[in-house]
Amino acid sequence: MKKLLDNQVALITGASSGIGYGVAKALAEAGAAVVLNYHSHAEAAEQLAEEITRAGGAAIAVQADVSDPAQVNAMFDACRARFDTVDIVVANSGLQKDSAFADMTLQDWQTVLATNLTGQFLTSQAAVREFRRRGPRPVSKALGKLICMSSVHEVIPWAGHVNYAASKGGIQMFMKSLAQEVAPERIRVNSIAPGAIRTPINKDAWDTDAALEKLLRLIPYGRVGETDDIGKAAVWLASDESDYVVGTTLFVDGGMTLYPGFADNG
Ligand code: BGC
Repeated sequence: MKKLLDNQVALITGASSGIGYGVAKALAEAGAAVVLNYHSHAEAAEQLAEEITRAGGAAIAVQADVSDPAQVNAMFDACRARFDTVDIVVANSGLQKDSAFADMTLQDWQTVLATNLTGQFLTSQAAVREFRRRGPRPVSKALGKLICMSSVHEVIPWAGHVNYAASKGGIQMFMKSLAQEVAPERIRVNSIAPGAIRTPINKDAWDTDAALEKLLRLIPYGRVGETDDIGKAAVWLASDESDYVVGTTLFVDGGMTLYPGFADNG
């Protein structure tokens, strides 16, 4: 049976855990060959590559720190060496280093911006260069598809997380400005903005009954998201089913950005 992403190659940064892992799995299930980038969890990335290969797909795991231009270039070289090119790039790597504003160290500020914002800049730049180098392919109407992993915090302010919120606010304008610049070449740039998705990054927010009850007050739809919710959105955004979607942020958040605190207040 024909699959939505057959004969396409996808590179996912930060694919060894959380949302990146779920997105990589979903893209592979949709028929894409996948390059699984990881920073430090080699075992998880290698295991996922093995699992995908055993199921009849194609996958490699590639180590790289996305904040380092040389490592990002080497990651794209590895992708070309194995699969010739790439059609879909998901700039997903991200981290949190939370603290009250007055206590936030410069290091914690810089580390978060380096991965979450500079990492997406470097990954996207290498992607655009590769799409141009390779030229059109019959596998898709677009020359290439780039998906930036944003967050509801590109619009929802977040006390105690100014570094993270600033990085995601930055992604909002980064994505739109880049989308405007490269759309004439038929490169589609979009973002996904997840809400609270059950992953290690926010374990404290859902792993006790009390925390979960508090978190659910922020989610009108009444459940925490799963990585598969984001995986499905990524498959659609990466496929020709969304060919006319350009420069958009797709919120996948159970209604978190509806500001439910206002439902009976204000
Ligand atoms: C953060 C999570 C948080 C969610 C909703 C995400 O971007 O990484 O820690 O639970 O936003 O607030």
